[in-house]
Amino acid sequence: MDLSTSYMGLELRNPLVASASPLSYTVDGIRRLADAGVGAVVLFSLFEEQLREQAARNARLVDDPAESFPEALGYFAPSAEEDAGPRHYLSVLERAATAVEVPVIASLNGVTPEGWTDYARAMQDAGASAIELNIYYLPGDPHISGRDVEQRHIDVLQRVKAAVTVPVAIKLSPHFSSTGEIALRLDEAGADALVLFNRFLQPDIDPETLAIVPNVTLSSPADARLARTWIALLYGRVRAALAATTGVETSADVAKYLLAGADVVMTASALLRYGPEHATVMLDELTDWMERKGFTTVDDLRGLLAVPAGTDEAVYERASYVGALREANSSAYGPW
Ligand SMILES: Cc1cc2nc3c(=O)[nH]c(=O)nc-3n(C[C@H](O)[C@H](O)[C@H](O)COP(=O)(O)O)c2cc1C
Repeated sequence: MDLSTSYMGLELRNPLVASASPLSYTVDGIRRLADAGVGAVVLFSLFEEQLREQAARNARLVDDPAESFPEALGYFAPSAEEDAGPRHYLSVLERAATAVEVPVIASLNGVTPEGWTDYARAMQDAGASAIELNIYYLPGDPHISGRDVEQRHIDVLQRVKAAVTVPVAIKLSPHFSSTGEIALRLDEAGADALVLFNRFLQPDIDPETLAIVPNVTLSSPADARLARTWIALLYGRVRAALAATTGVETSADVAKYLLAGADVVMTASALLRYGPEHATVMLDELTDWMERKGFTTVDDLRGLLAVPAGTDEAVYERASYVGALREANSSAYGPW
């Protein structure tokens, strides 16, 4: 059985990728993921805000040398705050890249097409095999147009592409009015992969304490359907690789995304819930399933259930929607 595959030109031993999460905060954590068998590891994100804080600190040190010891005037003067910041990030990345044999993908998380994007170059120099860009942007201001939101994605991507030579993936929000069109535009702008989809923090409200409760919830397999629908629609229609993220808990979830057309399938919640070793279980079961179905390589099955080329995609989606509703309604209320 050959599970090997390629992703943005990177050779992976299999298509299961650990996506950004606290499991990659340390080199030991990254090693554990690699030992469990994943094909690649995406590191937790470095945030634009962290880079801005560092830039502000550096500016303060330059403006007011009395604030620091002279030897601390270098751009990367160590400080307690930086333990969780850019310096720490590069250190983890650099050590991880030599500690494990699988590609380590660095993740940058921000929203403006400004100077912080150049940091991608430092990530490349520290050994990142690729950069994943997470443009976590919720346009809370109701005057911001959809076109502006899209253009921001293109601008950030182009800035990062100009800064590095390694491949650049872009993790997308599920909230575009035309996901297909922004995918095509990012593809044309040079994205090496589209990662579908980012999950947004959706704060809750506690009616007892009358407070807003920020929380990151773990996903379940039912959450995979939206991303799978878009992978199936985009398969064969973009040059960029397609990475699936959301709701991958079992080998069946991996298989379904591959059948829809994903180049790689990412998982975070399941590894947080059951531990990194759960990746071994998923891969063993994926191999068993492929054997049972008579597939010998991942290419044999990839995209088998994608939306067929030459289909009118809108009609296709509408037909399945109407068909599904017709079936649900007729079983509940008799024939339509
Ligand atoms: C606790 C937690 C932390 C995460 N941190 C990041 C992050 O730093 N950067 C990022 O791009 N995605 C982050 N994610 C999102 C995951 O990488 C993944 O895309 C998302 O959770 C969907 O996959 P899943 O359903 O397998 O969890 C995080 C998710 C969780 C649950």
